[in-house]
Amino acid sequence: MVYVMVCGPRAALVDVGSTDDLPLVSRGLEWLGIERRQVDTVIATHLHFDHVMGIDCATAAYGAQLALGEVSRAAVESGTPIRWPRRLGPLRAIPGWVMQGAPVMPKADRQRGLAFGFPWSRNPFTCRLAPTLVHEQALPGFEGWSVLATPGHSSDSICLHHAEAGILVAGDSVRNFRGGEWNGLTDDAGQYEQTKRLLQSLHVRVACPGHGPVLTGEGLLSGLATIGFWGRRAVRGQTT
Ligand SMILES: [Fe+2]
Repeated sequence: MVYVMVCGPRAALVDVGSTDDLPLVSRGLEWLGIERRQVDTVIATHLHFDHVMGIDCATAAYGAQLALGEVSRAAVESGTPIRWPRRLGPLRAIPGWVMQGAPVMPKADRQRGLAFGFPWSRNPFTCRLAPTLVHEQALPGFEGWSVLATPGHSSDSICLHHAEAGILVAGDSVRNFRGGEWNGLTDDAGQYEQTKRLLQSLHVRVACPGHGPVLTGEGLLSGLATIGFWGRRAVRGQTT
């Protein structure tokens, strides 16, 4: 998913998973009546390949800077890959991959894209970096929006929250393959439980997941399910 945020004359994209997304993003901007030059920032919710492989092309195309959370920023500046789920943890991505129709990597991403968002990737973005997005601080230039560090799915995950409007741009902290669920893919289950509690304490009536359609409804995060490894829709509660 690529989200477009607009505030006055400024626009930002949140996550660009593939270079192949760009024509569709441009059509979306056109439909919204937003000129390319208005897109001055691209925000990455976390450094997983399916959220960042198109970012370098997007920032170049729109002349935008890249805004990262504190953990992502430290990884990019030090050229260190982020931590990934240990041992067989990444296998938990398989059911979700199947539920999305088992997509393969677009040709456009196969060369340079591999340097971004994989367990070995040093994420060599060529664009300017915007000021770091800090936990519980305002999102610069976007009135009403704040940044939340939400580790658990990945150590560097962030969400964007508009408290008054009740909108959460959730990255992979929330997904929607089967009606809206917590993410079974975590690199730290304990941190993810804390993140779930934090998100459930917020006013959220619109949640924009990293995968799948937007979720709506007052208090929707209290009703999210957890899906077991084999795709069975499990009861609400802990992510195992
Ligand atoms: Fe992810």
